[in-house]
Amino acid sequence: MPTLPGDRLTLTRPDDWHIHLRDGAMLRAVMPDVAARFARAIVMPNLKPPVVTAADARAYRERILVAVPEGLRFEPLMTLYLTRDTTPEIIREAAREGWVKAVKWYPTGATTNSDFGVADVRPLSAVLEAMQETGLPLLMHGEVVDAEVDIFDREKVFIDRTLSRLVEDFPGLRMVMEHITTREAAQFVREAPANLGATITVHHLLYNRNAMLAGGIRPHYYCLPILKREVHRQALLEAATGGNPKFFLGTDSAPHPTDAKQSDCGCAGSYTAHAAIELYAEAFDSVGRLDRLEAFASFHGPDFYGLPRNTDTLTLMREPRPVPERIEVEAGVTLTPLRAGERVSWRVAS
Ligand code: DOR
Ligand code: ZN
Repeated sequence: MPTLPGDRLTLTRPDDWHIHLRDGAMLRAVMPDVAARFARAIVMPNLKPPVVTAADARAYRERILVAVPEGLRFEPLMTLYLTRDTTPEIIREAAREGWVKAVKWYPTGATTNSDFGVADVRPLSAVLEAMQETGLPLLMHGEVVDAEVDIFDREKVFIDRTLSRLVEDFPGLRMVMEHITTREAAQFVREAPANLGATITVHHLLYNRNAMLAGGIRPHYYCLPILKREVHRQALLEAATGGNPKFFLGTDSAPHPTDAKQSDCGCAGSYTAHAAIELYAEAFDSVGRLDRLEAFASFHGPDFYGLPRNTDTLTLMREPRPVPERIEVEAGVTLTPLRAGERVSWRVAS
């Protein structure tokens, strides 16, 4: 099929500033999707057991590199999981390894494998100071977990109770509010000093909570922070496509076996790595802002982290392609991608 000029989009190769790659068979299953699109990714440390030291990160990084398909280049940017046992020395040692790029804070109980997290970071101020000194950013799952706070309000309450204080107390610490989902978060990040940035997932740009709950309950749209109302989706689209360098691409692609999602107590997480950049192109195109995709996907992230931008490119073609119902992980285990059995409007040119 001939391609019209508007149907072809060449970008500086993008990076993913928030992804879950898992381990073992799942890691091997997802790596081809990730490496075909992204040059680098910030790899989340919420394995079982979590990645808590430079030695853990080194071993995990090697397993990731082994899973990169031949002929593709991919650079994993590693993170440590902040626990009550994290010390300033652990931070300094990790920072000396050039490939540890950040520390992730999961409030205890906030999401998948967050049991080792800490409820509050204030008792860890010596650790935060070591991060500030060594230049390692603090990545936050920005939700409170109190049972009395409604699940749809957890992000906003986190900003009011915790983030506003942190930003005041640590002006020299780079921080990323991960996967923001609300108008309030977009506004807070926009108005905060330059040391606070935010990632935005593609599922929060494309879907509101109806996708998960209207006309039937759809577990593959269940993720944390949970999908919100349409007004929030619109605010996120505005933030992502507005050209502000504080906002950058982070898919939060979070694969789980199909059985673990479709169960009495299904896990949180949507798998989007199979079509990540294509879906972002759909979202940007929906508001006529494909021209802003490259900055969001390929410039703002490395600029925030102080890393060089990629020098090679990736080309997308506007050409619908089907999404499989299931992806094989290993014998008896599948993964259900977002949009399973439907279509995506773009494809990556080979
Ligand atoms: O939906 C989510 N899944 N949100 C997270 O924060 C964690 C992730 C996972 O690891 O499955
Ligand atoms: Zn995540």
